[in-house]
Amino acid sequence: MSTTGEVIRCRAAVAWEPGKPLSVEEVEVAPPKAHEVRIKVVATAVSSTDWAFLYKPGIETRVQPFPFILGCEAAGVVESVGPGVIKFLPGDRVIPLFLPQFGECDQCCSTKHNVCKKNWENREIGVLADGTSRISYNGQQIYQFMGISAFSQYTVVSDISLAKIRDDAPFDKVCLLGYAVSTGYSAARYTAKVKRGSLCAVIGLGAVGLAAIMGCKAAGATRIIGVDINSCKHEKAKELGATDVVNPNDHRESIQEVLHEMTNGGVDYAVVCVRKADDMTAALESTREGCGTCVITKGTETAMTIGVNDLLMGRTLKGAYFGGWKSVDCVPLLVEDYMNKKLKLDEFVTGNLSLYQINEALQLSKNEKSIRTVISLW
Ligand SMILES: NC(=O)c1ccc[n+]([C@@H]2O[C@H](COP(=O)([O-])OP(=O)(O)OC[C@H]3O[C@@H](n4cnc5c(N)ncnc54)[C@H](O)[C@@H]3O)[C@@H](O)[C@H]2O)c1
Repeated sequence: MSTTGEVIRCRAAVAWEPGKPLSVEEVEVAPPKAHEVRIKVVATAVSSTDWAFLYKPGIETRVQPFPFILGCEAAGVVESVGPGVIKFLPGDRVIPLFLPQFGECDQCCSTKHNVCKKNWENREIGVLADGTSRISYNGQQIYQFMGISAFSQYTVVSDISLAKIRDDAPFDKVCLLGYAVSTGYSAARYTAKVKRGSLCAVIGLGAVGLAAIMGCKAAGATRIIGVDINSCKHEKAKELGATDVVNPNDHRESIQEVLHEMTNGGVDYAVVCVRKADDMTAALESTREGCGTCVITKGTETAMTIGVNDLLMGRTLKGAYFGGWKSVDCVPLLVEDYMNKKLKLDEFVTGNLSLYQINEALQLSKNEKSIRTVISLW
């Protein structure tokens, strides 16, 4: 029976208050408005970002209003489309994107960067382009998260925040391409532009860092050093392409000294996948004088100290939001790579749970052995 134009009642995990577990409720999801698409979410992964927005309010998280529905790494099927939507049809398989690609703004028309700011302010405060959310509970508005809210069986997203993918892509694997894996992989390949035969270091081996290792390997780096203070992550890093692994806590010297010693003068590329400013400085200093490039993939709440002489001596420091690649263009290509066995995703899935086990999955996102738990919504 068609649900087009109807309000859909479905299950969703609602964050009612900071610091409190999510509660699975029956919510109402309104039909999509102009340039919006309603999606049946089939699978969603749980990241440490979800955990942070619930349990660790900070500078980046404080504008998100409660109650809201978390989830930004997902895959699903288009249920219906609003007026003016021309790129999607009911039944299309899709991945929602926290970074839109409007296609007509200065940023989208530039080949130099990917940070499309369309609907940016609304996304930050939990609403869609018209200033409201499409999700409610007994008439009360439930805010959205990153323009998505994937911990719900149905959600509505802007049509510029959605990538159409091939029909045979498995939802429970390609959902990982909505956020961290695309970020890390693209940061290495498209922002650092790692060259064949180069020496690389990846600092922080969560999903972003492990994907950066894959990006370095795909680009033909001959040596890839994975760095993490949690040795449980080292085995997975080797599985995905690291040639060496280092735990900074095993050394008296600083990590930049260790990396300089291991590489006889520093790495060609360092991809930083941790949030602390001091680690970003260390990564920049671990690159080779004269030609080293350091790419930052995460925001930080404190100022980063940069030795001007490090830059003067020919090092380059870059930032990469969503890896630096345009979201709608990049994600279907990465799905192709996965389907053609050129990109690994199965290795990132360390657990599968149901929507009713969402709080367990959130706690697992902070577990030292876990990478991603995938939630099946149905
Ligand atoms: N820039 C973007 O577009 C973008 C996109 C996706 C995610 N992110 C960010 O990525 C984060 C989630 O990524 P994740 O899933 O990889 O994170 P995670 O928390 O799972 O992994 C971080 C890893 O870094 C390690 N680590 C911490 N401090 C370290 C240090 N000093 N030296 C070495 N290793 C250290 C931890 O042990 C852990 O393994 C979020 O913070 C989010 O903001 C950014």
